[in-house]
Amino acid sequence: MAEVLSNVQVAPGVFRLAVKGHDGGRMGQFYMLRAWEGYPLLSRPISIFDISRDVIEFLYIVAGEGTEMFSRLETGDPISLEGPFGNGFEKPTGKTAFIGGGIGIAPFYYALREIKNADVYLGFSRDSYMVDEFRKATTGNVHVDIGGIILNSVDFNAYDTIYTCGPQPMLHAVQRKQIESGSKAKIYVSLENRMACGIGACLVCSVKCKDGRKKACADGPVFLAEEVVF
Ligand code: FES
Repeated sequence: MAEVLSNVQVAPGVFRLAVKGHDGGRMGQFYMLRAWEGYPLLSRPISIFDISRDVIEFLYIVAGEGTEMFSRLETGDPISLEGPFGNGFEKPTGKTAFIGGGIGIAPFYYALREIKNADVYLGFSRDSYMVDEFRKATTGNVHVDIGGIILNSVDFNAYDTIYTCGPQPMLHAVQRKQIESGSKAKIYVSLENRMACGIGACLVCSVKCKDGRKKACADGPVFLAEEVVF
């Protein structure tokens, strides 16, 4: 069991949770979180927002019973963390961009703190959050779009590596933009599939890929955009 240090609402329904005690992790990996001992509800996969020596942070949006229970956590409460799981992001080469839609921005903060120099595109449907943190974390440009289509701001030919995370229609659009633009960039999508076990045992998180079915938790959550069948 780990211990909640803080659980702060940063926008309506969006919380930044800091927990003391963790088993490390690479950029793009996730943990399975659980705050309901003896209650029949599966752990929730939440990507790593940031890590320091003793403290791990998560950014999550209240989207159901589990995350609603997280939102009621207070300082000192126990929480179970299992992980880190997943493949995470490969190190980028060349000019790099992160494109996040809504809560899909979450895995990019830690990655950006590791990489330091990348352009960032943050798209929100209504309220923005964590924009100042992203501005401080990169020496590159940070573009913010509220209520529009963030992908329209991106020149897919201007980058060598692009990481994206967000709603599935956005990731599908990324795949189409890659084809239309003829971009030679390595473009990755980080998928937010439903999960149950988190370790490749249950198949709940199955992803259709061009070379067959894969598991978002164990083979992903990061895939090359071109290999996924949306
Ligand atoms: Fe069980 Fe992926 S969540 S196999």
